[in-house]
Formats: sequence, structure tokens, C-alpha cells
Amino acid sequence: MRYLPALLIFAALPTFAEGLSGEQVYNSTCVECHGTGKDKAPIFGNKKTWGKLVREGLDDLVPAALGGIRKMPAKGGNPSLSDLEVARGVVYLANAGGGKFAEPSEKEAARWRAKADKKKP
Ligand code: HEC
Repeated sequence: MRYLPALLIFAALPTFAEGLSGEQVYNSTCVECHGTGKDKAPIFGNKKTWGKLVREGLDDLVPAALGGIRKMPAKGGNPSLSDLEVARGVVYLANAGGGKFAEPSEKEAARWRAKADKKKP
């Protein structure tokens, strides 16, 4: 059993390496529009515009970010992001605008994906 500690470390690694954090997602993709307000994107940290969106809740915001809404492209135009990563990006944006959302789970991301797909024509 002397390999047990090493095994435990390898078992724990994926929890840290599972994709990008909300901040990384934001900086890689969302900042292009949400940093500047390009195409009237709600600007990062603007409590007035985000306050309204925060009240709509993640059940509205994440499916919109996954599937796109008006000039907001699906996944912010970056299809290499996973649904969970996009959800983390939304939480990062929303919390910078006054929200208090917790880190999203895989299960929630799957539910938001189903909602986004339902909206498609
Ligand atoms: C090409 C520009 C662009 C990029 C990149 C972009 N957005 Fe947006 N986003 C917009 C615009 C424009 C809107 C406003 C859409 C509207 O309501 O007309 C918006 C709105 C949103 C909203 C509010 C949706 C709602 O229900 O009103 C969320 C949440 C959002 N973006 C998240 C993200 C996330 C997360 C990323 C990065 C993964 C991202 N956006 C990248 C342009 C962009």
C-alpha cells in the first residue's frame, strides 16, 4: 500500500484540471465584447446593466450564452469551450456585476444545455 499516497494525488488531479476557470474563460473569449461594450454587450462590472441580468438568474443567462442571443454569438464565438466553462464565464461576469452565484456544476450545465437546444428553431 505504499503507492496509495501517489494514487490519491492522481485521483485528485482532475478536479483541478477540469477546464478553464470563469476568469480564464472571460479573458480568453468574453473580454473582447464584454470588456468594451462592443455591439452593446453588457460591460464587465457594470452593476446597473448586470443587476437586471442577475435578477433574471442563471437559468436565463447561461442558456442565452450557450445558444447565443441577438449579437451575442453561441459560446461567445468560441466552440472549443465546454458548456461548463461557458457557465463559469457567465458566473464570473454576473458576480462581477453584483451577483452572488456559486460555482456551477456539470449537472446544471447539462440542464442549461438542454434549455439552450430547446430554444433553437
Ligand atoms: C462578439 C461579442 C461577444 C462575445 C465574444 C461575448 N459576448 Fe456575451 N453578449 C454580447 C452582446 C452583444 C450581448 C447583448 C445581447 C442582447 O441582449 O442583445 C451579450 C450578452 C450576454 C449575456 C446576457 C444574456 C441575456 O440573457 O441577456 C451573457 C450572460 C453573456 N453575454 C455572456 C457571455 C460569455 C460568458 C461570453 C464568453 C464565453 C461572452 N458573453 C462573449 C456579445 C458578446
